[in-house]
Amino acid sequence: MSEQLIEVVDNRGVLRLTINRPQALNALNSAVIETLEQILVELEGRDDLRAVLITGAGEKSFVAGADISEMQDKTPAEAREFAGKALRTIKRLETLPVPVVALVNGFCLGGGCELALACDWAVASDNAIFGQPEVLLGVIPGFGGTQRLPRRVGPAMALDLCTTGRKLEAQEALRIGLVNQVMSQSELQDYADTLSKQLSGNGPQAVRSAKQAIHDGMDQDLDSALALETGLFALCFAGGEQREGMTAFVEKRKPDF
Ligand code: HXC
Repeated sequence: MSEQLIEVVDNRGVLRLTINRPQALNALNSAVIETLEQILVELEGRDDLRAVLITGAGEKSFVAGADISEMQDKTPAEAREFAGKALRTIKRLETLPVPVVALVNGFCLGGGCELALACDWAVASDNAIFGQPEVLLGVIPGFGGTQRLPRRVGPAMALDLCTTGRKLEAQEALRIGLVNQVMSQSELQDYADTLSKQLSGNGPQAVRSAKQAIHDGMDQDLDSALALETGLFALCFAGGEQREGMTAFVEKRKPDF
């Protein structure tokens, strides 16, 4: 079942997860969310993991939101349970110890935009469309959008998007900092290779520590966060990576991490 709803391709520790419900524009129903959680639980135990990329099947949609037909008859208690399960899964994705990147290959709406916001960064194809259109359906974002969107793009832009429900094209998403880069569909398909090449030259523990410093530090005051950075910086000198990296520089060769 997991192969059908989410395809997993492992490229030397760079995992590419493809949400595979193109007939519903990859909308997130309970089965997709449960499958994603199972995959993430397995990934949490992998020491060789270098990065995770998440995308949608086809060239039309990343994820067009939570599944509206599944939600339409829910009671408040059922809606709370549905949102809670998705929030827990998305948190697992966000807190993986390696870079997690959204490859946004088309519609990125509602819960899809919230999924992308839980990634460390997003890159988008030039046909991507973003938005938090929940208010058009009489609801608000429930997969973390009201909290992660203002943290990424600022409260004024988040309020604009969450109250008007308007859609953004890729270039506006780039301008407001919702995505880091915009590229063609074919470049987006090659991004797993691009990222593997970039990361394979870097110390894997250093990459994890950089993520940890930024994530944990964002929740702290500046002085505590700087102390956190110093602690993690010093720890880099406890393993073999720093010795190899710096020795390789001095010896004018590539490091072998
Ligand atoms: C269920 C969906 C869906 C969704 C699309 N589909 N989005 N099914 N949930 N979120 C289905 C359609 O019903 C249709 O199925 C098929 O996918 C193709 O979609 P079309 O509408 O025919 O395509 P198109 O005309 O190109 O329009 C694309 C679209 C539109 C603009 C993306 O589908 C759309 O507006 N979708 C809803 C977007 C949205 O409101 N997302 C936020 C959801 S609320 P059939 O069977 O007819 O072919 C949300 C809340 C999160 O995410 C928090 C919850 C706790």
